[in-house]
Amino acid sequence: MITEQTSQIAFNKQVASRVFLMGLKSPEMRAAAVPGQFVMIRVRQAMDPLLRRPFSICRADGDLILVLYRVVGRGTEILSEMRQGDSLDVMGPLGRGFGHPPDGRRAILTAGGMGIAPLLFLGDSVGFLGCNLLAGFASSDQVIGPDRVGLLNVEMSVATDDGTLGRQGTVADLMEEHLSHMDPEPGMVFACGPIPMLKAIAAIAMRRDIPCQVSLETTMACGLGACQGCAVKASGRRDRSYWHVCREGPVFDARDLDWGAL
Ligand SMILES: Cc1cc2nc3c(=O)[nH]c(=O)nc-3n(C[C@H](O)[C@H](O)[C@H](O)COP(=O)(O)OP(=O)(O)OC[C@H]3O[C@@H](n4cnc5c(N)ncnc54)[C@H](O)[C@@H]3O)c2cc1C
Ligand code: FES
Repeated sequence: MITEQTSQIAFNKQVASRVFLMGLKSPEMRAAAVPGQFVMIRVRQAMDPLLRRPFSICRADGDLILVLYRVVGRGTEILSEMRQGDSLDVMGPLGRGFGHPPDGRRAILTAGGMGIAPLLFLGDSVGFLGCNLLAGFASSDQVIGPDRVGLLNVEMSVATDDGTLGRQGTVADLMEEHLSHMDPEPGMVFACGPIPMLKAIAAIAMRRDIPCQVSLETTMACGLGACQGCAVKASGRRDRSYWHVCREGPVFDARDLDWGAL
């Protein structure tokens, strides 16, 4: 069930360069949330900025939902200045979350940059014995590991573009390397990150016939399927010409998207 409420901030702390972790008190959303879903946050009760901002739920803990966000513009700058005890207008959980890998099969979770947020929640629910979490970042100072959000049961392999931590290269390179050692192949690949990264991951998975689910982070205005602001072209595999990312996503089967149009 979707809740719209005023939630109290339990904490809002910096966990990496320009990256913050916020705990929002909401027993209702915490109880309903599944990995891959998101919340829309109004960063302040004023006409400006008017639109709510979407953020993945990166963890559910006690009666809190946690969001991990990078300061990229005005809205996230305002969020970063909020303090414990302040309140925010929050709506969620929204959208459709990740599915499950077939029973007994390992999953590969691939993240690019802040795309790590929903995959931490997924990794926590699958448990590290059931998945390999692979993450790519530009450089070592951008790396955000599970420990930064208090998850100690999730392991992560890292690739950095400049080779300052982990393997030098992209998360797609890291995935190819893992696949070459995995027997049997994983039952499912999950991915979240920038579009070029998602294209590379989906192409590898589809070439090997491994089911792949990707989470898209398009621009959103309403978050509820009412404004068309988040529409993306469908592949035509189903009887649809486009999808609303906020309502039918943000998680999609990679085969249902028109990758050429993204
Ligand atoms: C489903 C979903 C989940 C997301 N999860 C996370 C997350 O867990 N952590 C995180 O750091 N970011 C996440 N994002 C992106 C986040 O919503 C934007 O970074 C944020 O809205 C920027 O707001 P701003 O006012 O600071 O930036 P603005 O000043 O508005 O713009 C700065 C940049 O952010 C982009 N942007 C602005 N508004 C949106 C919007 N509504 N949706 C998407 N991109 C936008 C702009 O294109 C621009 O490049 C998610 C986006 C979606 C759609
Ligand atoms: S954000 Fe309005 S329809 Fe998706």
